[in-house]
Formats: sequence, C-alpha cells, structure tokens
Amino acid sequence: MIENLIDLEEVSTDKLETIIKLAGEIKNDPDKYKESCRGKILATLFYEPSTRTQMSFQAAMMRLGGNTIGFDNPMNSSVAKGESLKDTVKIISGYADIIAMRHPAEGAARAASMFSDAPIINAGDGGHLHPTQTLTDIVTLYNEVGRLDHLKIGLCGDLKNGRTVHSLIKTMSHFEGNEFILVSTPDLEVPGYIKSILKASGCRYSELYNLNEAMPVLDVLYMTRIQRERFSSEEEYKRQSGIYVLDTKKLSLGKGSLKVLHPLPRVDEITSDVDKDPRAVYFKQAVYGMYARMALIYLMLNKPVEKKAQRHITENRVHKCDNPSCITRREPYLPNAFKNSGDMLTCLYCDNRMLI
Ligand code: NCD
Repeated sequence: MIENLIDLEEVSTDKLETIIKLAGEIKNDPDKYKESCRGKILATLFYEPSTRTQMSFQAAMMRLGGNTIGFDNPMNSSVAKGESLKDTVKIISGYADIIAMRHPAEGAARAASMFSDAPIINAGDGGHLHPTQTLTDIVTLYNEVGRLDHLKIGLCGDLKNGRTVHSLIKTMSHFEGNEFILVSTPDLEVPGYIKSILKASGCRYSELYNLNEAMPVLDVLYMTRIQRERFSSEEEYKRQSGIYVLDTKKLSLGKGSLKVLHPLPRVDEITSDVDKDPRAVYFKQAVYGMYARMALIYLMLNKPVEKKAQRHITENRVHKCDNPSCITRREPYLPNAFKNSGDMLTCLYCDNRMLI
C-alpha cells in the first residue's frame, strides 16, 4: 500500500501499473467513482505557486466526492506568523484525511511526513522531485505512446533545477530498454545523483547541447521551462533562457510517431503553432494528470485504517547537509540524517551527496 508519496522510488512497478490502469478506468467510467471518497478531506498546502497541480488535486478530490481545504499563499496562513512546518503539518493532519504539499525547500515533503498523522503527497519539493507529475507523465505515455519501455526519451531545458525531470528519469529508468538523451547547456545538466542512478540502472544515456541533433531519433520529447525562481540572479537566468525553442521547423525533424510532452507552464520553449500538431500532447497530459491524481487519492484513502508507524530516522549529530536549499537548513529542529556508502553521505531529505 502507498502510505505517503514522497518519492516514486518507494512505489513498486506493480503499484505504478495499478495506478495507471485505475486512472484509465476512472477516465472511462467516472460515475463509478464519484462517491468513493465521500466524507473525506484533502488539504492542499501550497507554499509555492501552482495552477495545474493544485487545481488538479482539488478537482480530483471533488470528482471522487470528497472535499478540500488548504492555502495557496502561505502568507495568508500562520506561516506568516513564523509557524514551523512541523506544527502546521501536525495541525492540518488533524483536520484532513490526506495532504498534498508543495514547498520550495528540497526534502520538505519527507520532513512533513515525519510529523503528520495523515498521509502526505509530495506535490513538488524545490528543485528536487515531483512524483505526481511523473504519474501524470507515465499515464500520458501509456495512453498516447502505448508502452513505457524501449523508448528513446529526450529531455530538454533546465535539467538541473527541473524536479519533473528528476522524478521522470528515476521512474523511467526502471523500465527495460529506455534510453535517455539529455539536452541542455553545460550549466543546466542533470545533477550527479541522477547520473549515478542512470549508470546503476544500466540504461543508456547521452548528453547533448544541440536539440536538432537529437530530434530524428526520439520517441518522446519532454520539454521543460528554465526554472527562473531557482536562479540566484536575473542575469544568471537570462544567460540560460531562450536557448531551446521547439518550433514547427524543429518539430519537422522528428518522427511522425514522436510525442511531445511538457509539464507546463510553458514560457517560450514551445511556440504556440506547435500546439496544432497532433504530436503535441501536453494539453492532454494535463488532463491525464487529474485522472492520475484521482487514482492515487483513491488508492491512498481506500486502505484499511491503521495508525501510521513513524518513520525511524537516525540522527547524525556530526554532519549537516550542505545543500543550501535543503529543508534541514530552514527548519533547524529536523534531525540531520544520511544514507552512508563508503566515503559518501546522501541526505535522506534532499538526496544531496557529500564526501566525508
Ligand atoms: C512543474 C513544476 O511545478 O515543477 N509544473 C507542474 O507541476 N505542472 C514544472 C514547472 O514549473 O516548470
């Protein structure tokens, strides 16, 4: 069973298939599920802006017959008075049956799950992960491409800060025969820990600067926005923006069977004339996202009621995570905790790796 959804690595491939199938079933027969969460409450705690993720969670819960509470601007909540994440989550988990949370700090959802009496869904934690976008993406691929394996997947744009990219690569590396073509500037490459995951998975991957070169071989192109909010200055952002633009000319280099995905919002990386091309499936993708979230909420709530066992974290009193965006840097009561392998520590919250 899914207790929390922090990282899809904690969900088996069988369970992923169950979610994909259920999303399809709900899409085909929504009436059958329209009372399935009657009397239940979803809280959406959004510490960062969102349109699709927040509203698709709310719409998903309402279409299952449940209700929603929450905030989309923490400045209108007790966070503005200095309340800790721990206290906010503890309180809300007494009001709601399930919580979807988006936060700018990496590892925030993991931290929240340590204090919550209700299951937590990670709706995006800084530049780290975005597992429900990945559910959206795989439901889209399953329905629009017909398979999740033996695909040549191009990912283009901000591969460093794009949490959707990190989650998607991790999940797709579990399916046989997938190959990744990572298109970015050298400054916006995928983080080292994602490359290590790719190496360990045995999947082939290559890194390219030029999108045109990749186009002819791709089955899937996953375009992403340059994540302006993750840059330290506007100049840094400007240096990286406008480099990758998918227009109809570039798209003409792609196969007829290519599918173009984008988690949205788009800024300037796909011109709007591409929208008319049947290979552009990003608007459909946003709709699949609602069904994916319906399936997820349904499965997380319709399980035998049991008291959540606290996740046991062993505190490391010697080392602190050195990632400035890690939640442990903002919420000082959190115990520092790492996975230890040889001379490497990996932060249990944000996956940052440090040599010791
Ligand atoms: C993505 C996100 O928030 O990471 N958006 C979304 O959830 N659909 C992608 C982005 O903001 O670029």
